[in-house]
Amino acid sequence: MWGCAVAVAVPFRGSIRSRLLYNMQIAVSVILPVLVLLSFPLGSHAKHAGITRHFEFNVTYHNVSTLCKSQKLVSVNGQFPGPTIHVNEGDQVIIKVTNFVKYNVSIHWHGIRQIRSGWADGPAYVTQCPIQQGQSYTYNFTIVSQSGTLWWHAHITWLRATVNGALIIHPKRGAPYPFQKPDKEVPIVLGEWWNANVEDVAAQALATGGLPNISDAFIINGKPGPLYKCSSGAFVLDVIPGKKYLLRIINAGLNNEMFFAVANHTLLVVETDATYTKPFQSSAILITPGQTMSVLFEANQPQGQYFIATRPYSTVPGAPFDNTTATAILKYKGSSASSTPVMASLPDFNDTGFATKFDNNVRSLPTPQYPVNVPQTVDRSLFFTIGLAVKPCAPNKTCAGPNGGRLAAAVNNVSFVLPSVALLQAHFFNMKGVFTTDLPDRPVIPFNFTGQPPRNLVAKVGTRLSLIPYGANVQLVLQDTSLLATENHPIHLHGFNFFVVGKGFGNFKPSDNSSFNLVDPPQRNTVGVPAGGWIALRFKADNPGVWFMHCHLELHNSWGLETAFIVQNGKRPLEKILPPPSDLPKC
Ligand code: C2O
Repeated sequence: MWGCAVAVAVPFRGSIRSRLLYNMQIAVSVILPVLVLLSFPLGSHAKHAGITRHFEFNVTYHNVSTLCKSQKLVSVNGQFPGPTIHVNEGDQVIIKVTNFVKYNVSIHWHGIRQIRSGWADGPAYVTQCPIQQGQSYTYNFTIVSQSGTLWWHAHITWLRATVNGALIIHPKRGAPYPFQKPDKEVPIVLGEWWNANVEDVAAQALATGGLPNISDAFIINGKPGPLYKCSSGAFVLDVIPGKKYLLRIINAGLNNEMFFAVANHTLLVVETDATYTKPFQSSAILITPGQTMSVLFEANQPQGQYFIATRPYSTVPGAPFDNTTATAILKYKGSSASSTPVMASLPDFNDTGFATKFDNNVRSLPTPQYPVNVPQTVDRSLFFTIGLAVKPCAPNKTCAGPNGGRLAAAVNNVSFVLPSVALLQAHFFNMKGVFTTDLPDRPVIPFNFTGQPPRNLVAKVGTRLSLIPYGANVQLVLQDTSLLATENHPIHLHGFNFFVVGKGFGNFKPSDNSSFNLVDPPQRNTVGVPAGGWIALRFKADNPGVWFMHCHLELHNSWGLETAFIVQNGKRPLEKILPPPSDLPKC
């Protein structure tokens, strides 16, 4: 059914030949599974066999007008949001990315586990050097034991504001969903919009050491909706009464966690970060940058138009934030386009009560295909403080941050510095002097993390990583700090899904261990660490490579709220990282 959707969603720019190849690929993607199923009707191969899918991404400029202004965006294949990638679990995915813009580019396949294929992960200066103007790089990876909604985005500077799109992993051919089959599936990409070049916004903030301009609007599938002046319009979802819809929601925004609701329609959450959840109903959802979520709803309301709405959840009292609301329109078949849509009711901007309750409802759904294997023991226990800090201004300069310094962010008081070559290359080829593996396992000087902050707010700087033996069970407590301000930080780990086994406000205490959920905790790749609180997560380090972990608020990422894990090779051949592809970009 969705083989055709691919044809619409990922049109090839380029030559007739590539179009032909592309159509063949679609034909292959439809015919091959049938052949595979015929040739291995009972064997285990049939269960695991995927096909190879090819995509071509051209990073180009693209003109868009909205909010009374026309702008030149950087996007993929002239689309914004970029093309949706549809694959099945088990498929091999090959995406040739060519950079036609003046900025360096790299693309991250957010949430894809990249088992042994770290070279295809994408964060610039972590797993690869960026793709320079006029150059290409072909990402090649296989989807192993994952199914659901993910996404892809640029992973360098702030380009992901416009270089992003959905990556949908459908179940293995013939495999059902563990929930009622929807009549239609719709990607919903939430984002932010600046009436300015986003790269300039970022560069200016980083140059002054102060805060960047806040966004001018939020967008749903590229459109702000009618609540803004001079809006380019709204995304419209046409629905038929009685039918069921699956929204595959992605927060592609840079700096805002979002509430999201559909007027008069209850949402059933069935999947987060490409892992199935015990279904639960909610009038609205909370989704942080980096997170993805699938929700089902039934078109069971009287004919008419209903708003789909999103606005931020903001946890820093007094801090400036974009307090506008983006809307899309749910339009029942036969209703007049001029009827006024029913407004959605969203939680208040600072509704931490709703946010906490919503997150606590998320539970893994154990199924025979996806058992919930929470590590029951811990080999390596880490405690990382995360939060804001200050870095000194350059000599003889004045900066716009606190005490004339620059705003910064840190993990265990180390503000991360990206190297000028890729960490994975440095690790694989044993290059010296690029990084150290001495990030402290816990704060060197403990303090009352969420109480009165210490007087010295200046962080150390460095490219300091943690070394983890292959197969170790890691427990990591992420503790927010009150330095400058407490804030909800969406922390993303590359290369793994982790289990969120515990969560609380205030300072983590060892006795909190006893309340951990080791049965059905949520499984995620991005988790919101509550403002002034903590999260405990566990994962098995069964994927060798260098794996970035960072705040998915792009501002904090730019300020250094990140680190990386080096997971060593195991002893057996399938436990070792593969050699790099020959076209890996050079720095
Ligand atoms: Cu979605 Cu390292 O990012």
